[in-house]
Amino acid sequence: MYSEHVHIMDHPLVAHKLSILRDKNTSTKDFREIVSEIGMLMTYEATRSLPLTTREIETPICKATVPTLDGKKFAVVPILRAGLGLVDGVLRIVPSARVGHIGLYRNEETLEPVKYFCKMPKDVADRDILIVDPMLATGGSADAAIGFMKDYGCKNIKLMVLLAAPEGIERIMKNHPDVDLYCGAVDDHLNEHGYIVPGLGDAGDRIFGTK
Ligand code: PRP
Ligand code: URA
Repeated sequence: MYSEHVHIMDHPLVAHKLSILRDKNTSTKDFREIVSEIGMLMTYEATRSLPLTTREIETPICKATVPTLDGKKFAVVPILRAGLGLVDGVLRIVPSARVGHIGLYRNEETLEPVKYFCKMPKDVADRDILIVDPMLATGGSADAAIGFMKDYGCKNIKLMVLLAAPEGIERIMKNHPDVDLYCGAVDDHLNEHGYIVPGLGDAGDRIFGTK
């Protein structure tokens, strides 16, 4: 139903952990830890197409030509605040990645994103980019974040979210059909306040315990 650029996770561990996040009785500590764990599991999928080269080594038995990552530069870009919760999981899989930050919050009335911070690695235009945010609701924040990264000259951009609404997926695929989108799950719809239903509530508040 969606384009080949939309990758929806079908792993039971991701589904199970998302169900714990959805539960309103999950503690801040558990919520934060599980967001990080899902971030790690989803990074495994989002890095599936990283290019490999080969190198010569000696095993204890003989010489061998073995696969190795071809050293392409990679950066993870969390959308503040809630995206910060996923960074640790990404870095556990790709420890040499650089981290760029985009600060955006959604105006609660217009639902439009407002930018308040941006700091990127100097050579960001040469890097493969993984933008991370737990929630893709209207898609306004991710749409803007992808636009900023394109303005920096980035060409290979992926977006990773835990929960997506159909509205958000459609917006990203319409405005950025070149971007690969990785979703932990796709939910039913948005409510009148722009929250994902059934969703997990306000991801930033639940990660940082600010409610
Ligand atoms: C949340 C979420 C996304 C955005 C999704 O952030 O983390 O960035 O809303 O909504 P959208 O797809 O309709 O733009 P929020 O604005 O609540 O800021 P926070 O991370 O600081 O809590
Ligand atoms: N932002 C959130 O944190 N949760 C939603 O459901 C929608 C936007």
